[in-house]
Amino acid sequence: VREPDLAGRHVVVSAGGTREPLDPVRFLGNRSSGKQGYALARTAAARGARVTLVAANTTGLPDPAGVDVVPVGTAVQLREAVLKAAADADAVVMAAAVADFRPAVYATGKIKKKDGQEPEPIVLVRNPDILAEISADRARPGQVIVGFAAETDDVLANGRAKLARKGCDLLVVNEVGERKTFGSEENEAVVLGADGSETPVPHGPKEALADIVWDLAAARLG
Ligand code: PMT
Repeated sequence: VREPDLAGRHVVVSAGGTREPLDPVRFLGNRSSGKQGYALARTAAARGARVTLVAANTTGLPDPAGVDVVPVGTAVQLREAVLKAAADADAVVMAAAVADFRPAVYATGKIKKKDGQEPEPIVLVRNPDILAEISADRARPGQVIVGFAAETDDVLANGRAKLARKGCDLLVVNEVGERKTFGSEENEAVVLGADGSETPVPHGPKEALADIVWDLAAARLG
């Protein structure tokens, strides 16, 4: 049994993948299952934290015991839920895969193919960058903010650049691949710190990575 080292703390975790609707039956989405975010929520609760889990399209995963789950669909909804919960949070961990863009237009009726016509292009507009926003404008002094980055190439270089761009305290860089990241029960990562630190986390259950993230976050809490 773990020390309740997060007792008295409120932490916010985002999990899953946003879906950006095109029409009533279609969306733009991604392959996030929510498992990494749920592992973060379970481990934080086991360490005594009050946990708010903002869950984007994670149907099929059981609500972790004792955790306040806020279901959302789109990036805009995820932003609202995270900003609300972050107002009194000691730490925020953004494990969700958030769509950078959404369709500019939502068709209220199902988009039909028209005989002999080429498909209409899908025009996209930018979604808000929630991690950059909460990092630049901290709801509380000393609030610890952790981002995630799933990368396919130049993993560490891209991670370092992303950490600087987003302005968070820690960035968990995980490489997309077999038996890790999207959909897997397991993961493998390097946690980069704004202080220049690098913590490699070997391949293992998503809970093990989650516990290391909380160790690093707890060390940065006042
Ligand atoms: O859910 P699983 O199947 O368990 O998979 C876990 C995971 C692979 C989804 C997770 O480990 C992970 O890496 N999540 C981040 C995915 C990603 O590629 O994020 P990104 O590089 O698009 O974004 C970087 C960071 O900014 C993330 O913390 C993201 O939550 C945040 N972000 C991104 C875009 C945006 N508009 N707003 C944001 O806040």
